[in-house]
Amino acid sequence: MTSTASDNDPILLTSTPAPGVMLLQLNRPHKLNALSLELLGALQRALTSAERNDDIKCVILTGSGRAFCAGADISDMGRGIGAYEDPRRLAAQDAISAFSKPLIAAINGYVLGGGLELAMTCDIAIAAEDAKLGLPEINLGAFPGDGGTQRLPRIIGKSLAMQMILTGEAISASEARRIGLVSEVTASDELLPRALGLATIIAGKSPQAVRIAKQAVLNAFDMPLSAGLKFERTATAAVFATEDRAEAIRAFTEKRAPVFKGR
Ligand code: COA
Repeated sequence: MTSTASDNDPILLTSTPAPGVMLLQLNRPHKLNALSLELLGALQRALTSAERNDDIKCVILTGSGRAFCAGADISDMGRGIGAYEDPRRLAAQDAISAFSKPLIAAINGYVLGGGLELAMTCDIAIAAEDAKLGLPEINLGAFPGDGGTQRLPRIIGKSLAMQMILTGEAISASEARRIGLVSEVTASDELLPRALGLATIIAGKSPQAVRIAKQAVLNAFDMPLSAGLKFERTATAAVFATEDRAEAIRAFTEKRAPVFKGR
């Protein structure tokens, strides 16, 4: 990962490091990848394009330099750019939340404020051992307003979430792993290879099963159990009726790998 980008570099680096996998790298390392309105817009456009591209099955999000993302751009706030209720900002946040394909956060270094909220919007979060995770908005006379007060307690429970939000203190990668905020911690140089490994495994599955499984799991955060179970039952029946499911059963009996076509 580069840490030498200048203002002229693209603020979001996009690549396809493996078939079916898109890598998006926040690239304002001199500002610890703070989420300017421009960067949020670039992220929204990249995800919209990934959503429409059937060849993209899974997206990895990471940061250049010594941060995943240090949160909303505080200097923009000082200059009145990208106000909290700016419809462009809110639309970008909504687009990220609504992305239907798996999104993996590969967290390097600082992940603070809106950066951690972005990582929590991802479906899987893994972190390098040097990661520092926190919601410091309280130090700026505010609190997390891009999903943090809702997603954090659902992920790690009330007391820990209150502690992080009300003190603003950051935690280490190993602590984040212990409380389930990230699923794995890797050596720094293993972060992207591991994220790519996970994304490649997911990209090899039936796209429909993956998309509906993601929705079903997200429903667990949103719905009463009875409604979630109802969705799960209907969605499972729909997935059982796909060609990919029939192909997987055939492949199992023929002792070969299935070839999924997304139908
Ligand atoms: N918005 C805008 N710029 C930011 C930023 C943010 N959220 N976080 C860091 N930066 C900028 C710094 O202003 C600095 O820019 P400069 O070199 O032009 O002065 C650069 O990134 C490097 O940050 P710096 O503070 O010098 O690095 P550090 O290693 O001393 O400290 C942090 C790192 C993450 C502890 C510190 O930058 C910080 O507290 N950032 C704010 C985090 C935050 O409150 N996020 C929530 C926003 S609502």
